[in-house]
Amino acid sequence: MAPVVYLVSGANRGIGLGIVAALVARDDVAVFAGVRDLSSADALKDLGAQHPGKLHVVQLVSADKPNNERAISEIKDKHRGSHIISSIAGSIARGTEVPLGFLPYGMSNAAVNYLSKRLHVEYASDGLVSFSIAPGPVMTDLFTGAGALIDSKSVSPDVLSADEVGRRIAKLVEEAKRDDAGGQFLDHSGKKCQW
Ligand SMILES: NC(=O)c1ccc[n+]([C@@H]2O[C@H](COP(=O)([O-])OP(=O)(O)OC[C@H]3O[C@@H](n4cnc5c(N)ncnc54)[C@H](OP(=O)(O)O)[C@@H]3O)[C@@H](O)[C@H]2O)c1
Repeated sequence: MAPVVYLVSGANRGIGLGIVAALVARDDVAVFAGVRDLSSADALKDLGAQHPGKLHVVQLVSADKPNNERAISEIKDKHRGSHIISSIAGSIARGTEVPLGFLPYGMSNAAVNYLSKRLHVEYASDGLVSFSIAPGPVMTDLFTGAGALIDSKSVSPDVLSADEVGRRIAKLVEEAKRDDAGGQFLDHSGKKCQW
């Protein structure tokens, strides 16, 4: 049986790494882990060594079109058909409650959410399943960094590990159907959220 192919961006740390860890533990998968700096992929190399043949690290940098096209053709040379998970996308659900320094963050999340919905509409005839996931508060560099700006606990009392959220996101993606998840904004348990 041909393996199920996944591409995860922002995969060297944080939620992306948690997603990759959950995916490589499955049977019959080929997981491509996108990183912007190949020299920062030590955790992925360790993971690859534990799951021989399943994990491939590729360079992937937002908006670097020529380089990203090279990465996509490398993936297509090896496998056909893929699930793409962008861990550098994010949620706007609670962004407006956060006071300081988060204007670009909130605006870019709004744009990503629009893109996710747009892809759902534009690629309907291809049967593409495109949706956004709000991971909730997750213990990553981003979360601890935000703690320097805000009182993180007051915004998010229930913080999960990146491995736990990675497992939940991997399951959501694996089970997603276009007529249910397509064009939606889900939390990590699969519940539909407001944009
Ligand atoms: N953690 C939370 O509590 C939380 C809550 C809600 C939403 N989110 C969203 O979830 C996403 C992942 O968050 P995280 O906590 O895992 O963040 P993180 O620990 O800061 O990791 C961010 C990842 O994205 C990569 N990245 C950043 N800019 C990139 C670019 N221009 N091109 C390619 N890769 C890039 C980073 O690569 P480098 O190592 O090279 O920098 C890193 O792998 C973010 O969009 C965030 O907004 C997180």
